[in-house]
Amino acid sequence: MKNINIALAKGRVAKAAMNLLIECGCDFPDYSEKSRKLVFKDRTRNIQVTLVKSPDVPVYVQKGAADVGIVGKDVLLEEKADVYELVKLGIGACDMCVAGFKDQEPDYDKKVVVGTKYPNITKEYFNKKGVRTEIIKINGSVELAPIIGLSDIIVDIVESGKTLEENGLVVHEKIMPISARLIVNKVSLKTKYDEIEWIIETLQSLGEKE
Ligand code: PRP
Repeated sequence: MKNINIALAKGRVAKAAMNLLIECGCDFPDYSEKSRKLVFKDRTRNIQVTLVKSPDVPVYVQKGAADVGIVGKDVLLEEKADVYELVKLGIGACDMCVAGFKDQEPDYDKKVVVGTKYPNITKEYFNKKGVRTEIIKINGSVELAPIIGLSDIIVDIVESGKTLEENGLVVHEKIMPISARLIVNKVSLKTKYDEIEWIIETLQSLGEKE
């Protein structure tokens, strides 16, 4: 089997994807959820997994540093990489939402200040609604923005809803459902077709059971 490099989005997607790969029969002796290691080699096949920040997954795959990537659709919509998006996996399900304070529905007749990790998705959504916005790009802990007065509302992914709840915020609108996708480097799909086909088929069949 030719060697395959898989880039996983660090965090919950990587955790679920590693479990899927282990269910597929892969064996990463050094792997544990708490480990700070970033590269794991499989003992059974020629597979190497690297854990990268989620916005970097499409970059690694487009440039060929990874043959395959597993990352949320949120990142793919935001980053627009030149890769094949081949499989919708049954992991990483959440919603892209507009959120804010409970008793403060946003006033869309006025310009709204929005804090988000996703400026492109946010811009497109509010442009379609005809709402004027000032979008502030934030790199994490987006829920802080309305609390400290940086923005009126936020656009972010919501999975369990716990982060919003614990910070006194609620969902105002659901923009779209999000889930993890398997993306593939365009050259690798040709040169490593059999290996990538095995990964696709195995992950797909396991993902469907979730
Ligand atoms: C994501 C997202 C929310 C949280 C939602 O952040 O940006 O903050 O998860 O999950 P929940 O609905 O289950 O609470 P992440 O954990 O990736 O951290 P970050 O905001 O620091 O990037």
